[in-house]
Amino acid sequence: MNNKCDLIYEGKAKKIFSHDDEDKVIIEFKDDATAFNALKKAKFEGKGRLNCLISTRIFELLMKNNIPNHFIRLKNENTIIAKKIKVIPLEIVLRNTAYGSLCKQTTIKPGTLLAKPLIDIYLKNDELNDPLITRDRIELMNILESRDLDFIIDLTLKINIILKKFFKNIQLQLVDFKLEFGYDLNSKILLGDEISPDNCRLWDLNQKDDIIVSLDKDRFRNDLGGLIEAYSEINRRINDFI
Ligand code: TMP
Ligand code: ASP
Repeated sequence: MNNKCDLIYEGKAKKIFSHDDEDKVIIEFKDDATAFNALKKAKFEGKGRLNCLISTRIFELLMKNNIPNHFIRLKNENTIIAKKIKVIPLEIVLRNTAYGSLCKQTTIKPGTLLAKPLIDIYLKNDELNDPLITRDRIELMNILESRDLDFIIDLTLKINIILKKFFKNIQLQLVDFKLEFGYDLNSKILLGDEISPDNCRLWDLNQKDDIIVSLDKDRFRNDLGGLIEAYSEINRRINDFI
């Protein structure tokens, strides 16, 4: 790391350090895993490295597809260099298949394929437990302008098309995922955070029957075990494909 590399922020799964260049940051992926707003915590040796490598490959794919994002380059196996952004306090979830909170909060059955992608937006606020939020409330709170929200939603739908196809090629069903966006120093909106099995639901399509085999953080959320094995399998399939 460079000389004056101060810890700017420590989140649940990542640490952000300053970079010599004002417009960049260094992001280190941690081995910690949390679920249910950190009510449940554990450490998985090697998770940070796997998420960093998987996320790097996905950002490279998105870059090729002209999706504006914060990724610059991999620094080492659990650290990346990224553009500095001011994070918009919203979590944009896109769902292709019903699962998780959608099935807890509605009468839709787990595993139902959705006729079109569903976008659920949550306020990124741990104290409030990241509540589901409406467009009108986003406007009321002056979080971002309506046209910027439209831009983010449009980008999320485009990202879904790219990721769905990519994962299908490696025999994975992209059930849902969560994205975060931010403004760079020129006020341009960029995709930030990470794209990994921590924030995507990925089901193995290499199964004979209709059983659900999760290769994502549900292995920890639902006490299924084998989290590192699942993440390693995803990393292996990505590297074999690229
Ligand atoms: P949910 O079904 O629990 O709402 O989760 C939807 C997707 O969002 C799933 O892929 C997991 C991801 N997610 C996060 O990345 N962070 C979170 O804090 C939550 C609640 C979900
Ligand atoms: N990021 C969430 C947390 O601990 C958990 C999740 O991904 O379900 O708080």
